[in-house]
Amino acid sequence: MEKIRVKLTGNSYDVLIGTGLLRRAGREIARLLPSRNSRVLVITSPTVRHHWGAQLEQSLRQAKLKYDVLEMNDGEPSKNLATLEQLAGQIVNAGADRKSLMVAFGGGVVGDSVGFLASIFMRGLPVIQIPTTVVAQVDASIGGKTGVNLQAGKNLIGTFHQPRAVLIDPLVLETLEEREFRSGLFESLKCGVIRDAKLFDFMAAQPEKIRQRNRKALQRLIVDSVRVKAKVVCADERESDLRRILNFGHTIGHALEAATGYTQLLHGEAVGWGMMAAASIARDVKSCAPQTAERIHSAVAGYGPLPAVRIRTEDVIARLSSDKKTVAGSVHFVLPEKIGKVKITSDVPPEVVYSAVEQIRNYA
Ligand SMILES: NC(=O)c1ccc[n+]([C@@H]2O[C@H](COP(=O)([O-])OP(=O)(O)OC[C@H]3O[C@@H](n4cnc5c(N)ncnc54)[C@H](O)[C@@H]3O)[C@@H](O)[C@H]2O)c1
Ligand SMILES: [Zn+2]
Repeated sequence: MEKIRVKLTGNSYDVLIGTGLLRRAGREIARLLPSRNSRVLVITSPTVRHHWGAQLEQSLRQAKLKYDVLEMNDGEPSKNLATLEQLAGQIVNAGADRKSLMVAFGGGVVGDSVGFLASIFMRGLPVIQIPTTVVAQVDASIGGKTGVNLQAGKNLIGTFHQPRAVLIDPLVLETLEEREFRSGLFESLKCGVIRDAKLFDFMAAQPEKIRQRNRKALQRLIVDSVRVKAKVVCADERESDLRRILNFGHTIGHALEAATGYTQLLHGEAVGWGMMAAASIARDVKSCAPQTAERIHSAVAGYGPLPAVRIRTEDVIARLSSDKKTVAGSVHFVLPEKIGKVKITSDVPPEVVYSAVEQIRNYA
């Protein structure tokens, strides 16, 4: 088992990563209980409960914990305030008090929603994250960002609420649908490009092994990705400059998602296209060598095929400036300088952006 410490002012925590960890989750949770007779409130989705709920419950019983399991639907449309209000009611009925501990057991939707609820329920309860998708294991569960969507846009309402711990069992990825699984891998590849050339090389060299969900390969990929995210988050607790490097591939990725009404691409797939576009931009503005851009293109392709981008380039460009990560009206890009090192710039000529989007449309 691997332990990665997220060191923050006042609320540091461990991320534990190990094959089979779910069977020992109860023990780990018991260690972190606010008090001896605290209630544990597990919030999960019907799908995750169906596949893995019995294993988690067994470990909670073995650890002699008092617990309830509550459900919320996952998938992006359920990530809203109405879901939280409903859950909050159920939590009250389950007898929660200020000594209770919440456990978010699911993908990024459950993690973000439950993290948010934990931060505001009775003015804040501790939460433990047990992520069950690649996206959630390598990205969403680390860093304390929580929130839900509004009609007006994604993740527009939320808080920073660091978990007490993150428990990652790569085994639970076995039941993930192929497309969901592959999509999440692009967030790992992103970690490689921004901060970890060895992770990038490993992913570029081993797409088959990783795609077949080889246990050792998955463990390594998750550990390395979490390390990158944890380092960035530690250095920059609140989103400011450094944390923005995590948005590599996301500037155009978000625009693609928005322009297609969030219906054609999974988030990770949009990030895959976004990384390709960012690599082309970096090449064209001479931030990186052509070979570097080529390596990124072919690494992304190794985890494809990505669904075709069937929208006009103009529509993608129009979405760029309305992204919430826009700072003072200018669009920021995270561009590779070499594998493992990126820079942030707002200084990209519009025709370069246009041509990069055209390229990914033609690539498909
Ligand atoms: N907080 C952050 O820093 C951060 C970072 C990245 C993404 N996110 C958020 O994460 C969300 C996306 O997360 P996601 O991709 O995990 O989506 P998700 O939570 O909707 O899960 C995707 C699908 O996988 C299913 N699933 C989950 N675990 C499974 C398992 N082990 N076996 C079989 N099926 C399983 C779910 O039922 C769902 O249908 C978005 O809302 C995004 O905004 C947050
Ligand atoms: Zn992302």
